[in-house]
Amino acid sequence: MKIKSIRGTHDLFGSELEKYNIIKKNINAIAKIYNFNEIITPIFENTELFSKPLGEQSDVVLKQMYTFLDKNGDSITLRPEYTTPMIRAAISNNLLLSLPCKIFGIGPMFRRERPQKGRYRQFNQINFENFGTDDTFAEVELILIAVNFINQLIPNNNFRLNINSLGDSNTLDLYKKELSKFLNKNKKKLSLDSQTKIDSNPIRVLDTKHKEDRGVISKAPSMINFLSESALKKYENVKKYLKEFNIEYKEDFSLVRGLDYYCHTVFEIKTNSLGSQDTLIGGGRYDGLIKTLGGNNIPGVGWAGGVERIMMLMKLTKENNLTVHFAILNEKFKDYALKAYKILIENDISVYWNFKYNLKKSLSKSNELNASFVIIVGDEEYKNKKYTVKNLKTGNQNLVKIKELIKLIKND
Ligand code: HAM
Repeated sequence: MKIKSIRGTHDLFGSELEKYNIIKKNINAIAKIYNFNEIITPIFENTELFSKPLGEQSDVVLKQMYTFLDKNGDSITLRPEYTTPMIRAAISNNLLLSLPCKIFGIGPMFRRERPQKGRYRQFNQINFENFGTDDTFAEVELILIAVNFINQLIPNNNFRLNINSLGDSNTLDLYKKELSKFLNKNKKKLSLDSQTKIDSNPIRVLDTKHKEDRGVISKAPSMINFLSESALKKYENVKKYLKEFNIEYKEDFSLVRGLDYYCHTVFEIKTNSLGSQDTLIGGGRYDGLIKTLGGNNIPGVGWAGGVERIMMLMKLTKENNLTVHFAILNEKFKDYALKAYKILIENDISVYWNFKYNLKKSLSKSNELNASFVIIVGDEEYKNKKYTVKNLKTGNQNLVKIKELIKLIKND
């Protein structure tokens, strides 16, 4: 019986896992600099945490959630995103008593999308969230973190930062009405999918994946013209700080993001190098969300980045790990070679015992795995109570006593 993995999932090992670990290491270091604390939450939550807050008309809620009934009848969902679980956790654990609360997390998310390059059904996200401030520098601090993070991991990238403002809830309501009117006038030119959203949530039409909708959308009224004076001021402030920190950006007035909880600033970091799944990082402000989820009426802002997409753009530099292999003529010399093995591990030197008591096979394995040294053991070495140590980088070879092994390997 050959059991296959589930469509849209993938195993992480070898160089991919190495990249994942580098991302984790970098993100921990960056979080320390900006003082965000890590949080790990369960991968499943009560369905209601997602269904309303993300938007009943959003693709995530309509089509992509892994939802099931638990044996006691509770509806449970594998988390499709991390912002709402983080808010739930911050409320449950009283983390919102001292504000701002700056937290980050990394872990798997689940969305039943059509798998393709850069799109999985189980994928990893990094999330940074700042709960409790409406200072517009909060979004810029978060964007700084995102930009630093991408620049560290992907030098010479060609990403771009797009920004927009959705304004406050009054702006959004006004805009939605105007947009509905416009879309209703052009209803026949829209896909069936978009037609169903015109009255319930017209913003989601701007997010369409149907190419036939693009013509209508390009002529739709622009949100920026509906912003209230105070919303416009906030947006101008964000742009001011971006300039002060030399962060290049492009305004994209059609940027609305795929989830319903956003207001004011929204942003995305995109790349030209990944094909259609080109968004590396997406986020924005969500001022009413914490209250909706049962917390106090405090604002919030954050972003999430797709780990797999970032990994696809990373290049690994070959690290020269000091690893010692063994090449043993035959099993007769195994115990004598193990004496050297014992000394090496006692001195914390990385060893690779290949379980092949065959000189030729072992030497080719050492080359294949890019070992630093190989210790050769055969008749001659055994007779002289010595070991041959070959440096595979320089080709130098020495016959030494066990006492001299460590010094030779560490200093060579
Ligand atoms: P999102 O735009 O749905 O936002 O996802 C953020 C990022 O996760 C995307 O830009 C992409 O890199 C990655 N991603 C999403 N779906 C997939 C997938 N199926 N396969 C691989 N990568 C994927 C959110 O999730 C919001 N919670 C972001 C946020 C945080 N807003 C405020 N705080």
